[in-house]
Amino acid sequence: MKHIISPLDLSVKELEEVLDLAEQIIEDPKKYSECCHGKKLATLFYEPSTRTRLSFEAAMLNLGGNILGFSSADSSSAAKGESVADTIRVVSSYADICAMRHPKEGAPLVASMYSSIPVINAGDGGHNHPTQTLTDLLTIKKLKGRLDNLTIGFCGDLKFGRTVHSLINAMVRYDNVKFVFISPEELRIPAYLREELLDRDNIPYQEVKNLEKVMPSLDLLYMTRVQKERFFNEEDYIRLKDSFILDAQKMTYAKDDMLVLHPLPRVNEIATEVDNDPRAVYFKQAEFGVYARMALIMKLLNVSV
Ligand code: CP
Repeated sequence: MKHIISPLDLSVKELEEVLDLAEQIIEDPKKYSECCHGKKLATLFYEPSTRTRLSFEAAMLNLGGNILGFSSADSSSAAKGESVADTIRVVSSYADICAMRHPKEGAPLVASMYSSIPVINAGDGGHNHPTQTLTDLLTIKKLKGRLDNLTIGFCGDLKFGRTVHSLINAMVRYDNVKFVFISPEELRIPAYLREELLDRDNIPYQEVKNLEKVMPSLDLLYMTRVQKERFFNEEDYIRLKDSFILDAQKMTYAKDDMLVLHPLPRVNEIATEVDNDPRAVYFKQAEFGVYARMALIMKLLNVSV
């Protein structure tokens, strides 16, 4: 039994298999409509979500399976003080696989230690979000045609943005990938990622504060929201929340084939006028999340057509 807690829990080869399967599902979704018949997915969400929870549920329903779960800690026995360990022990006897989102970093890892079903981390604090990474990789592969030879700009809240941390971890495994980190000083990528991953492995990267200047060099621009819920101080959030706003004027500096990704939800960081630019692919990215999760569920449950 395999759990997916970090994007590195899938080898490059396994990842390729999941992405290939997701692409096959996109081509012929009907073919897969019964392959999880009789299986149940539990979605244990201790923190708000629209895309991740609903796309997991849509994925299982598309595969002919069933779903159960809760969408907030308040509507579960966590509100009465139940531990994640006890909850997953119980849920293991109700479902075949589970996706867990939790505000505490490491909670899905703890759950995996007590679980007898595969646990998928659906986002833990500011740490990791491996199925968003799978979604991002599928989007890049499908729309850019490659996962190597890319200059990727990450812009916004690089400190708390778990989707950023997960995607960096995944992308360093491909050849000739360079990173440009665009953030205010207070929201730089964490030191552990710079020192223990990028510097250690001599991965080329630069940190800048001006988005326009680096736009022409980017193949992908990954915009992120400033994560209000992770700030201790509202004043700091208000001061930093609009640090970077991508608008139509800034898009004029970008390559014709640069893609704009965003894990969503968006607040102010991408002006809605950008939505109609063919390079803005964030809604397509959210759509691909269903196919990525269908492929991952099939892989973890070891089912095929
Ligand atoms: N991208 C993402 O994780 O969105 P939700 O918070 O809506 O699940």
